Amino acid sequence: MQELIWINGEVMPLADATVSVEDRGFQFADGVYEVARVYNGRCFALRPHVDRLERSAGGIKLALNLPKGQLAGAIESLVERSGLSDGIVYVQLTRGVCARNHVFPAPDSCRPTLLFYTRKLPRPGPVGSGDGIALVTVNDVRWRLCWIKSIALLANVLAKNEAAAAGAEEAVFVDDGYVSECSTSNLFFVFGGKLVTHPVGAKVLPGITREYLIECARDLRIAVEERPVREDEVTRAEEIFISSTTREVSWVSKWNGRPVGGTRCGAVTEKVHRALRERIAQETGVNAAPVVA
Ligand code: PDD
Repeated sequence: MQELIWINGEVMPLADATVSVEDRGFQFADGVYEVARVYNGRCFALRPHVDRLERSAGGIKLALNLPKGQLAGAIESLVERSGLSDGIVYVQLTRGVCARNHVFPAPDSCRPTLLFYTRKLPRPGPVGSGDGIALVTVNDVRWRLCWIKSIALLANVLAKNEAAAAGAEEAVFVDDGYVSECSTSNLFFVFGGKLVTHPVGAKVLPGITREYLIECARDLRIAVEERPVREDEVTRAEEIFISSTTREVSWVSKWNGRPVGGTRCGAVTEKVHRALRERIAQETGVNAAPVVA
């Protein structure tokens, strides 16, 4: 397997690619990104990722400079060329290279920088495995356009590092007593057998995994409610889990050092995760039973 990058139409080894210091992504974080999963050499949910990239780009007044179908096709051929079996594709679009100025360049004077590359990542372990992960809360100091998957991730980076320093896996953003999402994942609760998660928009990224899980829950006739959850409700949750492209689903056993959500992976979490695995298997042809490392 070779780590390859596609950058503005050219394919080369990842280590050989360079970007100008005057790329607006470097100077202003003026860009958007995606992370899509590859299972067994096949991209999962590629179209929803490309659609979200286009929406995020629109949110910063930037147009995708390649038709969506062409972009998806180019990503699939890079995955094939690189020989990647299990991993991710990172996609980034910035406004491009021009003399530093906060004001946008004239559209025809600056070509957006579009790139994507592959990286190996093992498939997540069996559904419901492990001891559950620990979360810690952090103050939400992010902007209020979290539906845009912006490369301006410093608040998320600081939050993730606060979690790491506390020996936790993820940081949960709290604002005015309500919890929204985590630094790199969406957050779900089970109350009275019902799946509860914060609505997407100003404070929450429309996670692709989140969307699939909501669909799976509806297929399983598990009720879903989208509403903000108060931090003081957390101790009453029967189950808590987080979701993202890279991890799929991880069940939560600790919140700020205290036990929460039961001592093993809950039944609802397990059911929706199994259903997600089936969707992955349908789309990519991988066996729903994961490879145990
Ligand atoms: N992060 N919320 C935030 C803030 C995220 O950064 C992510 C994903 C998610 C989950 O979205 P999805 O299910 O589409 O991956 C929610 C990616 C994986 C990352 O930044 O690496």
